[in-house]
Amino acid sequence: MEKEIISLQLAHLLGETFQQQEIQKQLEQPKHKDHGDVAFPCFSLAKHFRKNPQKIAEDLSSKLDHPIFSKTKAVHGYVNIFLDQTFMTEHILNRVLTEGYGTHSFGEGEHVVIDLSAPNIAKPFSMGHLRSTVIGNALANLAETCGYTPVKINYIGDYGTQFGHLLAAYKKWGHAEAVRQAPLKELSEIYVRFHEEAEDFPSLMEEGRDWFKRLEHGDEEALELWRWFRELSLEEFNHIYNRLGVSFDLTRGESYYTDTMAETISLLERKGLLEESDGALVVKLDEFDLPPCLIVKSNGTTTYATRDVTAAIDRYQSYTFSKSLYVVGNEQTLHFQQVKRVLEKAGFTWADDMHHVSFGMMLQNGKKMSTRKGRTILLEDVLREAGERAGNHQIGTGAVIFHDLKHYRQNDVEFSLEDLLTFEGTTGPYLQYTYARAVSLLRKTSFEKKTTWIDPSGWELVKHLHTFPDETARAFQASDPSIIAKYLLRLAKAFNQYYSGTKILQEDQLNERLTLVHAVTLVLGKGLAILGIEAVEDM
Ligand code: ARG
Repeated sequence: MEKEIISLQLAHLLGETFQQQEIQKQLEQPKHKDHGDVAFPCFSLAKHFRKNPQKIAEDLSSKLDHPIFSKTKAVHGYVNIFLDQTFMTEHILNRVLTEGYGTHSFGEGEHVVIDLSAPNIAKPFSMGHLRSTVIGNALANLAETCGYTPVKINYIGDYGTQFGHLLAAYKKWGHAEAVRQAPLKELSEIYVRFHEEAEDFPSLMEEGRDWFKRLEHGDEEALELWRWFRELSLEEFNHIYNRLGVSFDLTRGESYYTDTMAETISLLERKGLLEESDGALVVKLDEFDLPPCLIVKSNGTTTYATRDVTAAIDRYQSYTFSKSLYVVGNEQTLHFQQVKRVLEKAGFTWADDMHHVSFGMMLQNGKKMSTRKGRTILLEDVLREAGERAGNHQIGTGAVIFHDLKHYRQNDVEFSLEDLLTFEGTTGPYLQYTYARAVSLLRKTSFEKKTTWIDPSGWELVKHLHTFPDETARAFQASDPSIIAKYLLRLAKAFNQYYSGTKILQEDQLNERLTLVHAVTLVLGKGLAILGIEAVEDM
């Protein structure tokens, strides 16, 4: 509200060439409280008015006038605006206390499809899949906060030549009982063994290919085993999803597109996009400086890209999405560029709305946390251990999720259970602790909601509460949950400062102060919920 008022007045004062919206974007929040609540920099105006910025600032400052301004000042080329704290506090708190605070309606009626998690069957659930799951889940929550209908799709990796390898390996060394006991462990072990032995006995690869052919041609034995592996794998994945509190609107793996891929291939053919290359069929992407996209391999089998092209078309037909996000590690950047360009060349203008939301790696002691060969880290173990150390499953899980989300997703992240579980510092437990502390204050005594006056020491906190809706919109637009994570840390810090500087439970203006505390719990709770973290009331 104050930004609209300020930009509107400035637009009037500056004359026609300056648009209110542009001005509003330039408004800043001063780093120092001595510089007021909102600042407008005048440097870029100097040329236009042929005056120095400070002169312009002085001129504007003397003319700005509104009941919500308590004073204005020109300092070093900025107009600094101080807001009327009493008026603003009441206005802000009344909004914070409304149910939909922090939500938006700009996405109304539109679908955002989110491709997330997508682990591969018969392999351990990796850290990369954890990242995809929690980032994707937070993005879905943000989409919903902005009024969109999110569609979370778990695109399981359940198809491809590697399953031929797995079937061959199982026929050689597999034991049904061992698989039943610990499916992912056993299956990934024989899979690894297959590749090790294939180095000495290349004929194994031949057998693997054969099994894949059998699978593709609907051979009963192959299909039955594959279904069993899939079933068992999904069951194990579900333990993790339950722990994380993540669910999907659709669990639809790559194999779902087995039959429809033929349509995609003939479509590309009809559009004249398929070219032969060493016996394979590709779509050339030279004009985009990309290598050709492989659609059909020389042995006649389809590819990961063929399936993604097919799945994208299906998703558009089903949801007419306004955005389709793929939350996948940045090692697949080329793949998604190719898929998008192939669709674009085939004439699908909506390909423009597909975005690869990529992310960096999770490191341990500077090295990639690997789920391969020996260095196996089972995610369930990680989550269980976090829960045990924190003494509470929700806090442990929340700590792991928060640690992931507080970093800008593109960055690699160092994983240390110790660090992410400390109560001091920028952690999930710190936020949980802050939340629980606020809730316990509210439980000490009953209070009446009152927003009419608040002691000035609460002003900084009120201002933090005020920016929440901007943060949710920004986080969605940038597909960046860390915006919310960082915001919550700032809010928690402001609350803890308030808490240590003020006797909250003293008699005088108790209702007003507790209303403020209540408002903080609401926003903290909503923010944590967006990140997919359950707030804990008792600690
Ligand atoms: N299963 C793949 C992997 O683990 C990720 C799939 C990502 N989603 C997609 N539409 N390609 O590498």
